[in-house]
Amino acid sequence: MIVLGIETSCDETSAAIVKDGQKVLSNEVASSLEFHKRYGGVIPEIASRIQLETITKITESAVKKARIKLKDIDLISVTNRPGLLGSLLVGISFAKSLSLALDRPLLGIDHVYSHFYANFLDSKRIELPFMALVVSGGHTSIFHVHDFNKIELLGETKDDACGEAFDKVAKILGLGYPGGPLIEKMAKLGNPKKIKLNCSGSRDDFNFSFSGIKTAILYLTRGRRISLKEKRDICASFQETVIDVLVRKTLAACRLKKSSRLLLGGGVVANNRLREKFILAQKSHKLDLYFPQKSLCMDNAAMVAGLGYQLFKKGYHSDLSLTVELN
Ligand code: KG4
Ligand code: ZN
Repeated sequence: MIVLGIETSCDETSAAIVKDGQKVLSNEVASSLEFHKRYGGVIPEIASRIQLETITKITESAVKKARIKLKDIDLISVTNRPGLLGSLLVGISFAKSLSLALDRPLLGIDHVYSHFYANFLDSKRIELPFMALVVSGGHTSIFHVHDFNKIELLGETKDDACGEAFDKVAKILGLGYPGGPLIEKMAKLGNPKKIKLNCSGSRDDFNFSFSGIKTAILYLTRGRRISLKEKRDICASFQETVIDVLVRKTLAACRLKKSSRLLLGGGVVANNRLREKFILAQKSHKLDLYFPQKSLCMDNAAMVAGLGYQLFKKGYHSDLSLTVELN
């Protein structure tokens, strides 16, 4: 079965062709990042305008690269939640018009769930059930996934998402946007033990809070010149503290659910230190650990097409009344 995936939940415009939920025939991603950089974050109005201009070209390119024809598409799978309202609407409207024109079924997909589905792409065989940690610019959530339509949320961030905290700390330190890769680069040259930071939250639940650590760094640096060495130490300490809490809470959730199969997903999972620390935990806790290749950690439509295939097989589909679900 050939599925066209469409993803426009934030600043990316992506279209992908995936066969039978696993084989990625094409996965085209265009980012409007360069237009947002000067503002230090994504401007929704700019994102949706560029998506409107890009979506047709990106889809044509995905179809061409997959060496298929539009008529070969069996299903159109599109992100309809959560994300930026205008951006989501561009993707949904495009998917609906294509569904009508080609007379093919349509399915709205949850972006956060599609992040852990990225692990299934390119023929990895993973058994259900499993635990999943999604860490992105918009979400930090731990799930117990019984099946693709039976997903239990165990914990999530109560304020900033983890990637958002990386972006805000980078902004405070004047590093640029997006902050994750920039902090990771600085952290490599810093001492993670130099500055004591904390974001451990409650010991009794699986929720996260990242706004306190961001504010602590704001107060630590406010009104004075910070040397390069100190910036590196702050980045290293911040990164280590945040990753430690992600690992600790995720392992606790795995213990509670007596599950050793763990899938990671989302932009922050591109972080090498995070990968290292989960690999260490894999050894000590005998985890069956999966993370996607780095390009599939970021927003992309292949994961949307893949999850769409699984849900369609279970009998799910949307109709032309499909619209944005904000929560
Ligand atoms: O999943 P994603 O592409 O978009 C959302 O769904 O939000 O994630 C983007 C987030 C940004 O906050 C970015 O700073 C973060 O992922 N990120 C990283 C790294 N690469 C991207 N965070 C930490 N380390 C990285 N190497
Ligand atoms: Zn995402």
